[in-house]
Amino acid sequence: MNIGIDKIGFYTPDQYIDMEKLAEIRGVDPAKYTIGIGQEKMAVAPLHEDAVSMGANAALAILDDEDRAKIDLVLFGTESGVDHSKSGAVWVHHLTGIQENARSFELKQACYGATAGIKMAMGHIALNPDSKALVIGADIAKYGLNTAGEPTQGAGAVAMVLSSNPRILALDNDSAALTKNISDFWRPLYSDYAIVDGKYSNESYLSFLNDVWGVYKERTQRDLKDFEAVCFHLPYTKMAKKAILSLTAEASKEDAERLMSHYQNSIIYNKQVGNVYTGSLYLSLLSLLEQAPELKKGSRIGLYSYGSGAVGEFFSGVVQPDYKNYVNKGNNEALLNTRRELTTDEYEELLEKALPKDGSNIEMNTEQIKDGKAYLAAIQDNLRKYAVK
Ligand code: COA
Repeated sequence: MNIGIDKIGFYTPDQYIDMEKLAEIRGVDPAKYTIGIGQEKMAVAPLHEDAVSMGANAALAILDDEDRAKIDLVLFGTESGVDHSKSGAVWVHHLTGIQENARSFELKQACYGATAGIKMAMGHIALNPDSKALVIGADIAKYGLNTAGEPTQGAGAVAMVLSSNPRILALDNDSAALTKNISDFWRPLYSDYAIVDGKYSNESYLSFLNDVWGVYKERTQRDLKDFEAVCFHLPYTKMAKKAILSLTAEASKEDAERLMSHYQNSIIYNKQVGNVYTGSLYLSLLSLLEQAPELKKGSRIGLYSYGSGAVGEFFSGVVQPDYKNYVNKGNNEALLNTRRELTTDEYEELLEKALPKDGSNIEMNTEQIKDGKAYLAAIQDNLRKYAVK
């Protein structure tokens, strides 16, 4: 029985900052951001959007009534959780109208959380072939104004329905994971901003890739020639270029060129959104599926997930016939192309805005919110109130 991704949806806030304009106010050559880092636009979340509302919106974009009746597992991967106790999954379950006899919980391991969800969902479906699982990766990446990480921020969510006989990507049951206790990136409980040792994080990302790819190859006897494309976790799009160069250092010219040409398709969405942490790898997969010319039947895609701290995993899947009929290229392009550009002043003000931390109430201004979208409506008596407009 094949198990894998049957549907995939995406959401990002409807406002962004242009990277060239950000470079200008930071006194940096714009090419550093657009070429050196590989980002064109960066999504910025308004106060009424958080991991929960964005995750719900990504799911609302794909769920139908049959999914709502069959999903009995809701897995919410995030490192931008909104409560120390209650999981984002419970709110998403409610906001999307999934039937009540479901398990819902949150998974955390930096940017690896959604991959953990996928692996768990595969096991669940293997035992319960008629079930479906909803797996979400939703995050706001924030390093703060005037930091080295500033041009690699972003906000957004990816939601996937996993099922048997999936229509988009059948996942192989072969994978290789690695865990090591390192300190390349973390976010203390008291801080809204992540702390990152960027150079060390890049090195760790690549050394974990080298390790898990080696184990994967040995276990499966597959090599680069068996992959039409490889998608990567993308803290910024240049990172995957480094990864491909490292993977293909001793590869044939044909393999290296094929992977590099698909890389261009796999970064189109991430370039316009920035880092969405847990969802980044899956946004890259979505970009490849929607933006590359139709991949041949049976094409295998490699997936590299990396969550600082750190856990890395290399796994793979096979695209399904007619998968192009089950993705939503038009909707996702419209979502990206209808966003409002923030001025640099608006961006700076927004990035520093935070919800009250002293228990006081707040009511959100709902004018900007589009019909059908989930949002954080208020905090009252220390309780977050979400709604769908
Ligand atoms: N034109 C073109 N490229 C330029 C340039 C210019 N004018 N100026 C600089 N660059 C290139 C550099 O050569 C470098 O490329 P390389 O990495 O291929 O060598 C790249 O732009 C970045 O420059 P660098 O000086 O290394 O930038 P930085 O010290 O400001 O840091 C990051 C960049 C990515 C390390 C930093 O933004 C960061 O830490 N981000 C967070 C990373 C993260 O999220 N990690 C955790 C999850 S995996």
